[in-house]
Parts: sequence; C-alpha cells; structure tokens
Amino acid sequence: MEEYAGKTAIVTGGGSGLGRELCIELARAGAKVYAADINLEGAEKTAGKIADLGGRAQAVKADVRDPDEVGKLVDGAVAEGPLDFMFNNAGIIMFGEFRDMSYDDWRHFMESDVMSVIYGTKCAYEVMIRQGHGHIVNTSSIFGAFPFALATGYTAVKHAVTGLSLALRPEAAGLGVKVSVAVAVGVRVGVGVKVLLGAGVNVGVRVAVGVAVGNGASSMNNGSGLTRKRILPLTTRSRSLAPPSTMTSAS
Ligand SMILES: NC(=O)c1ccc[n+]([C@@H]2O[C@H](COP(=O)([O-])OP(=O)(O)OC[C@H]3O[C@@H](n4cnc5c(N)ncnc54)[C@H](O)[C@@H]3O)[C@@H](O)[C@H]2O)c1
Repeated sequence: MEEYAGKTAIVTGGGSGLGRELCIELARAGAKVYAADINLEGAEKTAGKIADLGGRAQAVKADVRDPDEVGKLVDGAVAEGPLDFMFNNAGIIMFGEFRDMSYDDWRHFMESDVMSVIYGTKCAYEVMIRQGHGHIVNTSSIFGAFPFALATGYTAVKHAVTGLSLALRPEAAGLGVKVSVAVAVGVRVGVGVKVLLGAGVNVGVRVAVGVAVGNGASSMNNGSGLTRKRILPLTTRSRSLAPPSTMTSAS
C-alpha cells in the first residue's frame, strides 16, 4: 500500500474500533494520521500505539456533530501540508423499534451519523478541490445497502451516507477528488452502541447482528482484518465497497 506513504489522513472516530484500526493500518503504510475523536483518551491511545510502531500520528479532540470543530480539525491538518485522505468514520449505532424512538433519538442519530459525514465531506472537499486532489472515504454499513427491520434508524442514516457518497462520486471526479464508501459488515461492535429500551429490543439486536453476519462475515472480527484486507486496498483502487448494482450506477 505504497499509495499511503508520505500522505496525510484524517480519521474520525479514530479512538476506537474500526477507526483505530484504520489509523494504525494507514500509519503502518507510511501515512501521517490525525486520529480525531470526541473521546480524546481513546484518540491518544491510538496515537500512542502508532508511536510505538514508529509511525506518525496526532490525537485530536473533535465532536463531528459540530461543523466548527470539524472545520478546525481539517484546517489544523492542512496547516501542515496537503490533506490526502479524509475518513469520515465516527458514528453511533442504535437498534430498536421505530415506535420507541423519540425525536431526540432521531436528532442525535442524524447529527452523529449523517450531519457529521456531511461536515467532514464538505470541509475536506473544499480543501481537496483547491489542492486538485484528495480522497474522501465515508464509512457506511450493510445497513446502508439494504433495509433491516428493527433498525429503521441505522438503516436510514447509513442509506444517507451511502447515497451521499455515491452521488458525489461522479461530481467530485471532475474536480480531481475521489469519493468512496466503505460498507462494513460484522465488525466487533464497540462502545458506541445504544440499545433503545423497549419491547422486543433484545430480539432486535440478535436479529440485526445475525442478519449482518449471515450476509458477509463468517464471524465477528476486530476490524483489523477488514481494514487491511478490504477497506484500504479498495480505497487505493478507488472502488466503492457497495453492492455491484450500486457500483454500476456510480462508476
Ligand atoms: N461495528 C460494526 O459491526 C460496524 C458495521 C458496519 C459499520 N460500522 C460503522 O463503522 C464506524 C465505526 O464503528 P465502530 O464499530 O468502530 O464503533 P466504535 O464505537 O468502536 O467507534 C466509534 C468511535 O466514534 C467516536 N464517536 C462517536 N460519536 C462521535 C462524535 N460525535 N464525534 C467524534 N467522535 C465520535 C467514538 O468515541 C468511538 O471512538 C461507524 O460509522 C459504524 O456505523 C460498524
């Protein structure tokens, strides 16, 4: 993965799970990484692991629900040189019945998983257009490719991420910017999971996880293998990790 050597990448949600693994794999491949997270301690742990490996990383505290904080995150990286990659990965996961979700739940979900990606994409896009190059990679999910019962929220937010990314892809290409969407399946679920309390919730979680596993992963893994084997190599080739039908319309 020489394409990452000497490059600069921001990874949101870099303090845990898939984001941490992305940071580590990017650093291993020679990139300078900004591990951004609302949980600074987690981001610092990521940066510490990278430093132990001899890589370059900086932990940044940023709440991706706040456009000003995302703007400062991007500006901070750009002050040091070109921004080559923006991984909009931070997010939360909620499962449960639609009838148990309040408007506040929906707002929190939309801000954490959709507006966050819009802010990260917009801030990086403006910089990358000026630079004439750059690659934005947004983390979606199998829930962003197919609708799942008992997961209206997660289905809605991840469809928004997939749709935004794939619609922007051809538009951005004309301006020298690449856009990809990573459809992760069956990665170990981290601390961001919120289970809505209400009737049938336990069944909802089992069904949702079971379906995701059945669709692509033989077992839950810790994200490292997924990052190394799928997300970074396919990002390198600028191929969207979306189902073939969606990819056709995007290419
Ligand atoms: N775990 C899975 O099975 C799975 C499957 C498909 C997609 N995904 C997606 O992968 C991404 C990462 O998920 P994960 O499983 O690694 O979860 P995780 O909870 O381990 O990591 C998410 C990180 O995002 C951070 N975060 C949450 N809200 C934030 C905010 N407002 N501002 C900044 N940082 C914030 C958290 O602190 C955490 O470090 C998410 O977008 C998730 O939807 C995960």
